[in-house]
Amino acid sequence: MKRHLISAADLSRDDAVLILDTAEEMARVADRPIKKLPTLRGRTVVNLFFEDSTRTRISFEAAAKRLSADVINFSAKGSSVSKGESLKDTALTLEAMGADAVVIRHHASGAPHRLATSGWINGSVVNAGDGTHEHPTQALLDAFTMRRHLAGAPDGGPTHHQGGGDGTGRDLTGRRITIVGDVLHSRVARSNVHLLHTLGAEVTLVAPPTLVPIGVERWPCEVSYDLDSVVPKSDAVMMLRVQRERMNAAFFPTEREYARRYGLDGDRMARMPEHAIVMHPGPMNRGMEITAEVADSRRCTAVEQVANGVSIRMAVLYLLLGGAVLEPAAESAETKAENPNSRTEESK
Ligand code: NCD
Repeated sequence: MKRHLISAADLSRDDAVLILDTAEEMARVADRPIKKLPTLRGRTVVNLFFEDSTRTRISFEAAAKRLSADVINFSAKGSSVSKGESLKDTALTLEAMGADAVVIRHHASGAPHRLATSGWINGSVVNAGDGTHEHPTQALLDAFTMRRHLAGAPDGGPTHHQGGGDGTGRDLTGRRITIVGDVLHSRVARSNVHLLHTLGAEVTLVAPPTLVPIGVERWPCEVSYDLDSVVPKSDAVMMLRVQRERMNAAFFPTEREYARRYGLDGDRMARMPEHAIVMHPGPMNRGMEITAEVADSRRCTAVEQVANGVSIRMAVLYLLLGGAVLEPAAESAETKAENPNSRTEESK
């Protein structure tokens, strides 16, 4: 693993599988009465959020706290950033406070990369969503969710597909994943395309031509404009939010027209294969890209994705800040903390 997590495209297959497997161990911790591990005791994680967030921010906070780290939440609103303070000065302040990891969400694509390569801070940088660029932990939690449903869980957990519950076939090779909607403004789509490709899945993007990014032909995926032809061949259909806040023009005639052609309603969902799941990163625009009927159906994993997000972010913080490969849950939390083989700061 590298020292920072900026882009899903940087993850090798081994890195990605290590994070997903570690997250499975973390999920087991969540099932215990005491959900806390002492692994990151004495370390400081700063959540630096320049853009609104519900799920991602509280998920990183819960993850860091479950690993016993000290957590500082910094939101641009109400801070000196609204007085014009630069990213550099904010970073220097965080460094002065001894941040071991900075989790950053920023409206500018590239801000986490700048932070990681500037030399302003020494800790690890985790990208929690930068502009329309990337959102790697979202892609990881999505892959984790898909793996549990489509590839057979490691210990006989839920599986609707081949692969069984015996640990075999626990990858997404050949799974057909369809990502639908506002791809142009979606960092979730870009990160998912890269990670799913690395994990061997076949990705198809479906969007109106106006919401397909320039250069998409260089992405490792197919593009279609016809949702109805793709839905019956999908193992998972991931709906994207229409990101009005990033739109400075009319990208489609009316909301009704968009919903009719690119939204997922009960009729379309009924044409998905029986085992297939519906995903959404949230926040959802009910009635726009997804109907309430679909959002609330048993096949929609939106809430499960949020729960899985905590396990993924625990795994990421653990691996970046000095965790060794987690032994199955048998190893007690205290032993883990004292494990001399745990990766140290120097070996990152
Ligand atoms: C996404 C984001 O912020 O990029 N949401 C999330 O992290 N759960 C997607 C979105 O805002 O539509």
